[in-house]
Amino acid sequence: MTSSTGSDRAPSLQAALRSYWNADAATYDQAVTHIPRSAAVNAAWAAALLRLLPPPPATVLDVGAGTGFLSVHLAQLGYQVTALDSAPAMLEQLTAKASRAGLAIKTVCADAADPPDGPFHAVVQRHLIWTLPDPGRALNTWHQAAPDGRLVLFESVWGSAADPAERFRSYGRRLVRRLHRDAHEHHAEYDPQWHAGLPLGTGTTPEALTSLLAASTWGPGRLHRLRDIEWTTLTTLPPSERIFGVAPRFALTAGGPARH
Ligand SMILES: C[S@@+](CC[C@H](N)C(=O)[O-])C[C@H]1O[C@@H](n2cnc3c(N)ncnc32)[C@H](O)[C@@H]1O
Repeated sequence: MTSSTGSDRAPSLQAALRSYWNADAATYDQAVTHIPRSAAVNAAWAAALLRLLPPPPATVLDVGAGTGFLSVHLAQLGYQVTALDSAPAMLEQLTAKASRAGLAIKTVCADAADPPDGPFHAVVQRHLIWTLPDPGRALNTWHQAAPDGRLVLFESVWGSAADPAERFRSYGRRLVRRLHRDAHEHHAEYDPQWHAGLPLGTGTTPEALTSLLAASTWGPGRLHRLRDIEWTTLTTLPPSERIFGVAPRFALTAGGPARH
């Protein structure tokens, strides 16, 4: 592994994004959409991880780990976790959380397209791929880090790439949260200029991600709707937000011993 923390293709964009996420680390966990506070939602996440990954104590690389949502879940389930992120402030939050929970999680401060050598049994990510300047290249480097392993991408449908009905529901959810004065999801909006350098920057859909994965060295993926997570999340919402439903959640898997 090299010590590079920026893509050589777009260093200034990478630096701007790193600075954005460093600033976001202090408040990221306040948004309930990022870190669920419900035991039922967390149980649904634990079930999805055990269903989609090779069994513990497999080694797992969590790319774009942030404050450690997936990493902490995985370590609690008995996985050997390496958490990678390019924002040191995010990794500080993750390390503090792991230490409070008595969990050992290795951290690597690096760019997502420059993972440690591995080999890992699995590579996972949640909500990272949309903000990568070259997501296809990143997928290929993750494959090199887990040549015989499993890839699991956890995503939801969001942004202008979603269908009009889902865009309307998303607008309604945001409006209700604003009326309830819920914590903002982020400390600031992305600079609109950044989107030009991010192929998935306007949102993720199953269609876009399955095509991207099929074109990578992983080859065609398997798509899973995460209904248990949606259902449990829905039951935690106030009635005014519940009428707009929750964003569809899905996982895309590839490689590895295929149990699903
Ligand atoms: C939306 S957050 C998701 C965090 C976490 N996976 C979660 O589910 O809560 C995106 C994370 O990706 C990280 N990130 C963004 N671009 C990255 C890159 N090029 N290389 C590594 N990490 C990156 C950010 O620092 C941030 O922690």
